[in-house]
Amino acid sequence: MPFVGYWAGRTLGLYGARMLRSMLLAAGRSPRMRALAEGSAPLRPLVDRFVAGTDLDAALPVIAGLATDRLVTVDHLGENTTDRAGVDATVAAYRALLLRLAPEGLADRVEVSVKLSALGQALPGDGDRIALEHAAAICAAAARAGTTVTLDMEDHTTVDSTLEILQTLRREHPWVGAVLQSALHRTEADAADLARAGSGVRLVKGAYAEPASVAFTAKAEVDEAYLRCLRILIAGAGYPMVATHDPRMVEAARAMAVVHGRAADDHEYQMLYGIRTAEQERIAASGDRMRVYLPYGADWYGYFTRRLAERPANLAFFLRSLITR
Ligand code: FDA
Repeated sequence: MPFVGYWAGRTLGLYGARMLRSMLLAAGRSPRMRALAEGSAPLRPLVDRFVAGTDLDAALPVIAGLATDRLVTVDHLGENTTDRAGVDATVAAYRALLLRLAPEGLADRVEVSVKLSALGQALPGDGDRIALEHAAAICAAAARAGTTVTLDMEDHTTVDSTLEILQTLRREHPWVGAVLQSALHRTEADAADLARAGSGVRLVKGAYAEPASVAFTAKAEVDEAYLRCLRILIAGAGYPMVATHDPRMVEAARAMAVVHGRAADDHEYQMLYGIRTAEQERIAASGDRMRVYLPYGADWYGYFTRRLAERPANLAFFLRSLITR
């Protein structure tokens, strides 16, 4: 009987965690919840844990501090932008950021990450063309600054468009980095395709709520798929970027790198700003390459809810903050 009770509790726990994740990701798309969260002063300390300030002046000292022992990729927050003015503002923000890197002596350790949905991909009509033009302008600005760009990956409906834009950008800038999500059924094939010489690929588990028709929905399946994709990338000829906080994945990557004779400068580990900071420092001190993904900007709500969905332990604090605003 205790055995039955254990499994009943465990099933409920797993089911509950999955439901909570879906609810949080849905809250990330709710304008009403966004307005509540943005007006909540008690929430600010939790947001600050994941977001390095609302503007560049606040973010730059944080970036410089991290860059003393780690590499950094900087994300100007914003996504699913459906008005031209918002898209133009995002491009201007990236240009301003890139202009500051070289004078601050950061260009060799700091690159940028961009979301194509903030650059026009979400605009009706010719969104893909507009996103490509803007991404190309940001890549040109990055080249002038002496650094590189990675294209973040968003929900599954954008993957074909993002990979096509990636290939077009790489004709002129072969260093543009890709992101693949192990949660998607298609990703092993995409990893095999992208594991080519000179191709940088950040492998993540995937932060979006995806339907079972295109994605693994059980965490264990996503984890196993991560290991399969990791093997493809590390055995391949490209530059793998192992983006995870999961100790099991990091250990597996380290073992695979040894088996495939990868040197410390031939792959890198990546984690998000504010998560497992001591582990980031430990990896950097061990001589491996460690990069921190650092977001800043006023449009933090969508990013923030994805971080909560990854760790519902923060949810109680989130709800309390909304109630006691
Ligand atoms: P998992 O979720 O299994 O977490 C492993 C452990 O890490 C947890 O047990 C906990 O200890 C810790 N942890 C994880 N998330 C935490 C959190 N939010 N707060 C506190 N602790 C946490 N996704 C995407 O779809 N497109 C993208 O472009 C990117 N880009 C990206 C860049 C980088 C550098 C990273 C590290 C991640 C992304 N992601 C992403 C997010 C990614 O898809 C995934 O949602 C998170 O990394 C969480 O998955 P883990 O691999 O960390 O494992």
